[in-house]
Amino acid sequence: MSEAGRFITFEGGEGAGKSTQVTRLADRLRSLGLEAIATREPGGTPNAEALRGLLLNGFAEPLAPASEAMIFSAARIDHLEKLVRPALARGAFVVCDRFADSTRAYQGALGHISGDFIDTLERLAVGETMPDLTFMLDLPAEDGLSRANLRRGANRADRFESEAIGFHRGLRDSFLKIAAAQPQRCVVMDGARTVDEIADDVWRLVERRFLGAAA
Ligand code: TMP
Repeated sequence: MSEAGRFITFEGGEGAGKSTQVTRLADRLRSLGLEAIATREPGGTPNAEALRGLLLNGFAEPLAPASEAMIFSAARIDHLEKLVRPALARGAFVVCDRFADSTRAYQGALGHISGDFIDTLERLAVGETMPDLTFMLDLPAEDGLSRANLRRGANRADRFESEAIGFHRGLRDSFLKIAAAQPQRCVVMDGARTVDEIADDVWRLVERRFLGAAA
């Protein structure tokens, strides 16, 4: 559990609609006069954003998958220390586009990394600062990738978007497994619905869990 504030993450495959929902939720919290930080991983601080560049442009790809996972964790440590934990300590809501579940799903799905290795990395990088609530936006891999292609336009696919369809199908299974193993924290949402429908469901849950609204 987080300290005084609330830590909410959005997870899912490519094109699942996380970024839009992060913005919607943070705006809605702010409209009530609450402090809400919208952030993302990899990234969220200048140093972690620099590492994001290396990770997504494929610079880190020739390294062993374990090394790539460690760079994601290095970015996470900086983000947690400089942005997330101070905000939680002030009592803010932190709404984050991807977090440690993405390392488990993506780096796990790339193979050659044991569950023990990922558990250890997570313990070292994240420690007690696990999200209070995680929304898993679930979508067939093909649909997510077509959305990501449309969004990208003429730009080149990044290091992970370029992986084969089998990889993206495996990701979906990994996220669903994480959600099934941690039902208190994770809520699976059908990512095929409209932005408004998803945002309304997200809001209902956040109100009920954290703002004292009746069920
Ligand atoms: P996105 O913010 O557009 O989703 O891009 C981030 C990419 O990085 C996405 O392809 C997922 C990948 N990723 C990992 O492989 N491991 C991680 O731990 C995180 C946070 C992201």
